[in-house]
Amino acid sequence: MADNHGLKLVDRDDDGIDRAFRADVLEGLRQDQKAIPARWLYDDAGSQLFEDITQVEEYYPTRCEREILEARGDEFAAEVGPGRAVVEFGSGSSVKTPLLLGAIDPAAYVPLDIAGDFLRAAAADLAAKFPGLPVHPVEADFMRRVELPAEVAGMPKLGFFPGSTIGNMVPRTAVDLLRTMRETLGQGSLLLIGMDLVKDPEILEAAYDDAKGVTGEFNLNLARRINRELGGTIPVEDLSHEARWNDDFARIEMHLVADRNMTFDVAGERFAMKAGETIHTENSHKFKRRSANTLLLAGGWTPVRRWLDEGEKFSVVLAEASVPRSAP
Ligand code: AVI
Repeated sequence: MADNHGLKLVDRDDDGIDRAFRADVLEGLRQDQKAIPARWLYDDAGSQLFEDITQVEEYYPTRCEREILEARGDEFAAEVGPGRAVVEFGSGSSVKTPLLLGAIDPAAYVPLDIAGDFLRAAAADLAAKFPGLPVHPVEADFMRRVELPAEVAGMPKLGFFPGSTIGNMVPRTAVDLLRTMRETLGQGSLLLIGMDLVKDPEILEAAYDDAKGVTGEFNLNLARRINRELGGTIPVEDLSHEARWNDDFARIEMHLVADRNMTFDVAGERFAMKAGETIHTENSHKFKRRSANTLLLAGGWTPVRRWLDEGEKFSVVLAEASVPRSAP
């Protein structure tokens, strides 16, 4: 397996503490509006809780995207053509991938993920499902340019970034990532990307605050993780999960709300929260056709075609690497 030149993915101190996690949490808790980057929601427990979220009634994105992937395979094949190396960014458990690989006639599959064990298991699973298909997993942080395996060097590429994960980034970061993907994939590449759509805030808030409380647990797990890994004393039982629609930025925000005035320690530092004060833990941006197109164009990708599910809740967009030019 290519490992991007022995890149060290987690940097731990002598006590085994993930330095980047500690730095992000401390910096985030020192701000007036406390905020912690959403990537830290995904420890083992958080990743499992996210898988559970994808099964809850109110969380429509996974179901709607799967519906599109199942229904539109022939159209993807016609647009994309045979013989591409499919490069999946943040492949995780690769559950949607068989739908794409079964529909188009790919020459190779390159799953990229930061979680090595997960990646190898999922890649082995996939290789078993598609016996003739070369699978080349790469353990890497796809937010940086990735050196793809030599075996796929001469092949045209199709990037695959499902799930509307792009929506978890603020636009500046999303644009950086799209540009980085373009560098990773090269000229002549295509990108198939899931982008969730703006809709009634009630539907959105329910999707991020399901009645069974799975999303609440996912959010609260971050506070538990801080207590576990950073010697924290956050009174988790006095925090509540909140999902709120921010119309100015077209995004659902997840917050942890303090139910009472509180003080707590994290990694030897003391923090205070007043009742009602929040820690902002995630953004999930939603798109309209034009805002999706603008974001893709800013990232160096020209939209070619888009598909919606029956209920028009979710979109999958095909874009091609634009030729850089300075005038129309
Ligand atoms: C991973 N990501 C696309 C999910 C989303 O919908 O923004 C994460 C999530 N957060 C709460 N529910 C799901």
